[in-house]
Amino acid sequence: MQKPYVITISSEKGGVGKTTLATNLAIYLKALNEELPVTLFSFDNHFSVDRMFRIGKQQSRHDVSGLFTGQRPEELLEIGEYGVQFIPSNRRLEDLPEVRDAGFDRLARTLASGALQGIVIIDTRPTLDILTRNALYAADRVIIPVKDAASLENCKNLYDFCESQGISKRALRLLPCLIDSRIRYKGPFTDAYQLLKAYAINRGYQCMEGFIAKSPKVESLNTNPEGRIYPILTHGRGTNVHLQFSHLARQVLTAFKNCKSHRIEEIRQRLTAQKQQQEQALKLHRERLLPHCLICGGPVLEQNTAYFFCETSDGQISGFLEESCFSDLIFRYFYRSQKEIAPSNPLRELFRESAQRSYFVMRLAATNNGLEKSSLTFHRYDEEGLEISQKTIEIKEFKNRFLQRGKTNLYRLIEATFLAEEVAQDSFLLIRRVDSLTDSGLLLDEQHAAFQQTMTSVANKLL
Ligand SMILES: Nc1ncnc2c1ncn2[C@@H]1O[C@H](COP(=O)(O)OP(=O)(O)O)[C@@H](O)[C@H]1O
Ligand SMILES: [Mg+2]
Repeated sequence: MQKPYVITISSEKGGVGKTTLATNLAIYLKALNEELPVTLFSFDNHFSVDRMFRIGKQQSRHDVSGLFTGQRPEELLEIGEYGVQFIPSNRRLEDLPEVRDAGFDRLARTLASGALQGIVIIDTRPTLDILTRNALYAADRVIIPVKDAASLENCKNLYDFCESQGISKRALRLLPCLIDSRIRYKGPFTDAYQLLKAYAINRGYQCMEGFIAKSPKVESLNTNPEGRIYPILTHGRGTNVHLQFSHLARQVLTAFKNCKSHRIEEIRQRLTAQKQQQEQALKLHRERLLPHCLICGGPVLEQNTAYFFCETSDGQISGFLEESCFSDLIFRYFYRSQKEIAPSNPLRELFRESAQRSYFVMRLAATNNGLEKSSLTFHRYDEEGLEISQKTIEIKEFKNRFLQRGKTNLYRLIEATFLAEEVAQDSFLLIRRVDSLTDSGLLLDEQHAAFQQTMTSVANKLL
């Protein structure tokens, strides 16, 4: 089943008829097609949607904040009047940390992972805040009510935002609203509708067909002793606005029917593909990991967390180094310690302590003539990426002394990374302590992501 078709009603100007449009459009759509699920919610805190659609005086358990806090959209719904389902409003939506910190695609992701169908209508606030941006990002169609030249100028920001997010200009439509039909002009454009339409076309904006007139009857529908807001369909049948809304709803329904691929469906497909790609990359990465210490060949054990993780800059080979093996390597070859350093030696503790906050990079030594294939430089960086020390040794020395007992996997790794014919000159090995090994004895996904980040910054530094 296709994900829902989303219509966002937006304008940076207040009082242009957004909420009247969103709420009544929902009712007219439902009147045209009873079977079509129509869902409505508002990011505004005026509670017009709740006042218009709530049946009885029930207290809602959920509201629109759930769209940002990981709830499923279909669980937030309340069955409303006129067959429209709505998500109750929230007074302090913008204070929620989940809303403040949300990306533009948060709402779209929620809708993409939910089960809503049919048409979703979103009423927004008169600002281009994070909530409006989310509503625009998710939209198949944006309807922008304009009532005068000033509100028309304001749409530029909406267009710019949509363009920056890859949303086609064609998804946006202006709709002249609150048009006072009594006012006539001399010249080619005889009324406000004609004039606004001409302005819009002049600026390259597309319009919905027709307009919504200003009507005292419509204005009176939200002021009554019951404190309710009455729909135009039931209480304003005698007005032109009723005919204009019927025409508008038909246009919307036609566009919905003709829309082959809904934006939320596309986003869902994109997210699924991304997830599969990530899982595939992780799987490959795990398969390439060697389950033995690259130096001593001992098995990598989950309960023992004193490991360093090592990966080539092309990400092709990675593996673990036992802490003691790695510190031996450092002491002997890079700090030239002649004697064996006993496990109880405080130097080891010192190294362990400082290695928590550093990372190591091994690469071919740089000379004036480029990179030197016979020497390796060993860099040590602190957490902020500042170089703390640097030592260069000849590979020969490393090979002769350290590999007395035959080639270790680390040496093979060095050979493959630096010495083979076809290796890239700027290859390096990144070595960093790992805090924990997962159940399967491999690196956690997030840890590997952090490791990758360090890899990128090292690559940039060594350029
Ligand atoms: N077609 C109309 N004719 C007369 N008044 C209208 C019409 N549409 C909306 N209004 C009135 O204009 C005011 C602003 O409308 P509203 O829908 O709340 O705009 P927004 O959501 O853009 O702030 C409200 O008092 C509403 O009753
Ligand atoms: Mg409003």
